[in-house]
Amino acid sequence: MADSRDEPLVLGIETSCDETGVGVVRGTTLLADAVASSVDEHARFGGVVPEVASRAHLEAMVPTIDRALKEAGVSARDLDGIAVTAGPGLAGALLVGVSAAKAYAYALGKPLYGVNHLASHICVDQLEHGALPEPTMALLVSGGHSSLLLSTDITADVRPLGSTIDDAAGEAFDKIARVLDLGFPGGPVIDRYAREGDPAAIAFPRGLTGPRDPVYDFSFSGLKTAVARWIEAKRAAGEEVPVRDVAASFQEAVVDVLTRKAVRACRDEGVDHLMIGGGVAANSRLRALAQERCEAAGIRLRVPRPKLCTDNGAMVAALGAEMVARGRAASDWDLSADSSLPVTDPHVPGTAAAHDHVHEVSKENLYS
Ligand code: KG4
Ligand code: ZN
Repeated sequence: MADSRDEPLVLGIETSCDETGVGVVRGTTLLADAVASSVDEHARFGGVVPEVASRAHLEAMVPTIDRALKEAGVSARDLDGIAVTAGPGLAGALLVGVSAAKAYAYALGKPLYGVNHLASHICVDQLEHGALPEPTMALLVSGGHSSLLLSTDITADVRPLGSTIDDAAGEAFDKIARVLDLGFPGGPVIDRYAREGDPAAIAFPRGLTGPRDPVYDFSFSGLKTAVARWIEAKRAAGEEVPVRDVAASFQEAVVDVLTRKAVRACRDEGVDHLMIGGGVAANSRLRALAQERCEAAGIRLRVPRPKLCTDNGAMVAALGAEMVARGRAASDWDLSADSSLPVTDPHVPGTAAAHDHVHEVSKENLYS
């Protein structure tokens, strides 16, 4: 290790969607979390435009890396590795991060770790609450994913129990916010309006909760349609839409199902720790209801602070540091972005040859 302390110092780069995130982590300690978001550039389109995101990553990359290193108070030469999101995500956006990570790793003579975005969303909790218990049940809810995952080792073993069969939870928040003319992204604004609304005002459907439905899968498209129809009917009748009540009732329908299924999965699998990660884990009602239901079921709940739930580089650095600590194989120099990297692959390991190459480059010390 470059440092006398034996915990690996790792820089992580995240560019899977619209946030250029660069984090620096030592073991499970967060040293820096720099994020440049292009969210404002997408707002007028009501969703992320991949080409716009890729260009914004390109512009933000070097300044964000510099900012993160400065914030951490470390030199790039002291790093023990560079981690990057290899997938899943937007192909062009991922490619910017992977190319940057390769360039820095090669120039510095450091090992490169291509890691999984979803596993990073889980591993980030180590920065908040220390080492992840093994096994851990994870409810991962973001703009692109909603899954229940069981992990016995976040660097090597992540097993999917269920996932959404249509929309992701965050996608449903974004779509309902659009129908209510509340802007993009929808999660935070619905969360705010819902605080002043009545969650029991309107009985919206709870997807896939019937006796014959798959136990761990989710569905939000029926709910989305039901909410949109309800709003349309109000508007057609010339009545005012009670935005706060709609937001609260819709949100309740989402978080009721998410927490119910997550607690059920913990019980069925005999797991007494539940971790909730991904952008939707920033939701205040999801956090409160999960806490309530976990307490009642004797399950310990772990949810990182909201800033670590949405996409960021620290989560990638956290998983990278865990890869180094557990001696996992670094990625090869021909690592490519994989927009549909399966959740069962926490990282993209290379062959032993990659390590030899790192040592050779290291001797030359190309980075001045
Ligand atoms: O994990 P993330 O930052 O990016 C993806 O990997 O998708 O998640 C973004 C999603 C968006 O759909 C956004 O609306 C949602 O997370 N989100 C929230 C909240 N904050 C962000 N959803 C509900 N409540 C929130 N407070
Ligand atoms: Zn994410």
